[in-house]
Amino acid sequence: MDLNAVLKTYRRYASGYDLYFGALFQPGRRAVIERMHCRSGDRVLEVGVGTGLSLPLYMPTVRVMGIDVSPEMLARAQARQRRLGLEHVTLRCMDAEHTDFPDDSFDKVAAMYVVSVAPDPGRLVKEMRRVCKPNGELYILNHFHHADTVIGMLECLTAPLSQLMGFHPDFSLDRLVRETNLEIVEKTPVNLFGYWTLLRAHNDKAARSVRAGAG
Ligand SMILES: C[S@@+](CC[C@H](N)C(=O)[O-])C[C@H]1O[C@@H](n2cnc3c(N)ncnc32)[C@H](O)[C@@H]1O
Repeated sequence: MDLNAVLKTYRRYASGYDLYFGALFQPGRRAVIERMHCRSGDRVLEVGVGTGLSLPLYMPTVRVMGIDVSPEMLARAQARQRRLGLEHVTLRCMDAEHTDFPDDSFDKVAAMYVVSVAPDPGRLVKEMRRVCKPNGELYILNHFHHADTVIGMLECLTAPLSQLMGFHPDFSLDRLVRETNLEIVEKTPVNLFGYWTLLRAHNDKAARSVRAGAG
């Protein structure tokens, strides 16, 4: 999907989003935030924060920055923030593939149900790595394509409808890892039938530059 398609899709979905994608997908969001084991004062960036369904799950002592490119989705997150008095949360309308944060700004960076929706998932993950501190952690919650199952074959057949559905059902984890040098340290199935995967990755910037230098 290109950026205009993302904007159009989420303009259309924003009003019904919490009803359709709220409770059903909340176990995955909860699993991400539990895995983070945040400490007081940690700085967390959540890219594609949407309507902010995850925001009440963070401890109030953690400083959370949520960004989203869709003004309609973000307006709902802002309403939730006001309603619940989430003063430790800051929300900004921003393209997560091209942020204005300095390098190494956050201890942890999360993308929940975002990478298969973003126009350029590789670029998005590289940006997550850039703004995350060296040895910080990245959390990616998404459905990834299983090529060797019947469901995987169905996903390939429905892939041409991705603009309409708002995500890529045939999204490949292998390709993302190859493109971004993501160092995955934990992979956990979550949500209904474990159909979605929670990835925890170590932001090993030093090792990457040594490898790059050696090559
Ligand atoms: C499926 S929703 C997930 C929202 C939220 N993370 C959740 O758990 O419900 C995907 C969100 O990613 C946002 N998004 C997609 N591409 C983006 C980008 N390049 N930068 C920022 N947000 C993006 C969309 O606007 C949308 O709000």
